[in-house]
Amino acid sequence: MVIAIDGPAGSGKSTVARALAEALGFRYLNSGAMYRALALSLLERPGDAAERARELDVELGDDVRLDGRDVTEAIRSPEVSEAASRIATVPEVRSALVDGQRAALAGGDWVAEGRDIGTVVTPDAAVKVFLTATPEERARRRAADLGAADWRVVLRDQTLRDAQDREREHSPLRPAEDAVEIDTTGRSVDDVVAEIAKLARRAN
Ligand code: CDP
Repeated sequence: MVIAIDGPAGSGKSTVARALAEALGFRYLNSGAMYRALALSLLERPGDAAERARELDVELGDDVRLDGRDVTEAIRSPEVSEAASRIATVPEVRSALVDGQRAALAGGDWVAEGRDIGTVVTPDAAVKVFLTATPEERARRRAADLGAADWRVVLRDQTLRDAQDREREHSPLRPAEDAVEIDTTGRSVDDVVAEIAKLARRAN
């Protein structure tokens, strides 16, 4: 079974997806970490993005490893976020990373999160959720994660990245037609996880 969780930055995807996977005993795929690791690799060593995507050596676990090096922290920076969103507009980059995601999701039970899991990566996922929250709440959460002093600066970057992710031609961020939209504004992680776990039980 695949549970697809898509949504914009700060909507709670990672926290909810991780907790849900833990609660259900499913594996967890953070597709955004792949785009981020690729972006970091290209920032450090410029080159052809599609070629690098095809040869990307990334391990996703509790830590994210790029070419064997722990990059868990490094991929969270605002520079990497922006670069990830930029390279994610390139169709050849997307198809290389989507191939890897589909190969992983082919076996076992998964909670997979990203922007296009329910629309492109696994359109036949048993459960599809689209998480949202107000832009202000999302920026406050992300500022807290980053230890950033001013959430308004985070809001500005987030607004640009949201627009880029929603308006790109290939696999734009949007809910799948059959996705359940959940607004997480003002709701606890446990509450949202319980709602999705109920959807999963019903789908099983
Ligand atoms: O954690 P946050 O939601 O801020 O970002 P992320 O999920 O780590 O994704 C970083 C960037 O990668 C996004 O802004 C997207 O441009 C891109 N991405 C994508 O295009 N498709 C995915 N399935 C996952 C991420």
